[in-house]
Amino acid sequence: MMQPPPLSLYVHFPWCVRKCPYCDFNSHPAKGELPESAYLDQLLHDLDRDLQYAPHRTIETIFIGGGTPSLISGRTIAALLDGVRDRAAVAGDAEVTLEANPGAVDEANFAAYRAAGVNRLSIGAQSFNAAHLASLGRIHDPHQIERAVTAAKAAGFNRFNLDLMHGLPGQTVDDAVSDLQRALLLGASHVSWYQLTIEPRTEFAQHPPQLPDEDALGAIESAGLAMLSSFGLRRYEVSAYASDGEAARHNLNYWMFGDYLGIGAGAHGKITFAERNEIVRTGKPLAPSRYLGVAPTELRSEALITLDARPGEFLLNALRLVDGVDSRLFEPRTGCSLSTIDGAWETLLTRGHVRADRLAVTELGFRYLDSVVSEFI
Ligand SMILES: C[S@@+](CC[C@H](N)C(=O)[O-])C[C@H]1O[C@@H](n2cnc3c(N)ncnc32)[C@H](O)[C@@H]1O
Ligand code: SF4
Repeated sequence: MMQPPPLSLYVHFPWCVRKCPYCDFNSHPAKGELPESAYLDQLLHDLDRDLQYAPHRTIETIFIGGGTPSLISGRTIAALLDGVRDRAAVAGDAEVTLEANPGAVDEANFAAYRAAGVNRLSIGAQSFNAAHLASLGRIHDPHQIERAVTAAKAAGFNRFNLDLMHGLPGQTVDDAVSDLQRALLLGASHVSWYQLTIEPRTEFAQHPPQLPDEDALGAIESAGLAMLSSFGLRRYEVSAYASDGEAARHNLNYWMFGDYLGIGAGAHGKITFAERNEIVRTGKPLAPSRYLGVAPTELRSEALITLDARPGEFLLNALRLVDGVDSRLFEPRTGCSLSTIDGAWETLLTRGHVRADRLAVTELGFRYLDSVVSEFI
């Protein structure tokens, strides 16, 4: 009944220039020179071992994320992508994205990334307001974002995403809308527009800034949506907006419960073994020093996704998509019968929170997404 879904590859690069006070990603301030070559060697060992789980499968998308991968030289990215292509089949039209911080941009590197096969950049702009960037502890100013976009275009990147955050300390509706407008005027065909959240174990959790209240957040959201749609960008996921054909294929594969190998410090993966009806989650050592220090045979930890957990995990992802997914994806991807969710789906239908024609929430359900998803977990 199960069928292997499309396969992606995530590569984690765990270093940044400085740790931002809101960030709980596995990212660490770089101290001195980065161990680029040792890290590359370990990434390829890591990949060799993970590929034993996915023989004969084609990698459809690659995402090099962090941290700040734009700190890595073009030479190392080229060696990484060559190493991937030497070991695995990579689709000819694969989407290959790299995350860049506007404060860590080198124009020659951008050209080398492009030549190496990276065809999409995701740039962490966050805001175009100098005071807000400072309050977020960012290492760059608004001009550096513009320079990064200019460098990206000059290097031949015609697909790029800008990350923006809203609900920032002291941010007004006009401030937030103006951030979006600046991003859109720069030609972003994809915007990830995240509401700032205070994550445990961050500097902001210890010293919480004053954030806009619920009413202000609601006003920011509706004015922001109007600005995005005036440039032809449609919301397709909770925080993701794209013009036609520009949705991030890599992220769509996560949200559609696709498979992915995750290599690098703290990277996780998900692999379907259709023939034995198993789905395995993989993990790698979190601390960069430990990731670099262990034998390749010790890199991977594993956990099975039990049959009971699969419907919830599938829907936790799929219902983040505004259009949800075709219900025919459910059985081949979870190995569970669609009837396992019948009862909960009926209840949600009567509340008007989900659709009858596909696995998707309604506009009302989208507003109560956490409560909708909790019905399955
Ligand atoms: C790995 S970072 C992107 C690349 C690069 N590290 C940078 O920051 O420029 C991923 C994105 O997640 C978002 N993000 C991180 N922490 C967040 C938080 N606490 N609340 C909302 N968005 C957050 C930011 O927009 C950030 O650009
Ligand atoms: S640069 Fe990006 S990954 Fe690094 S600490 Fe800041 S938000 Fe996190």
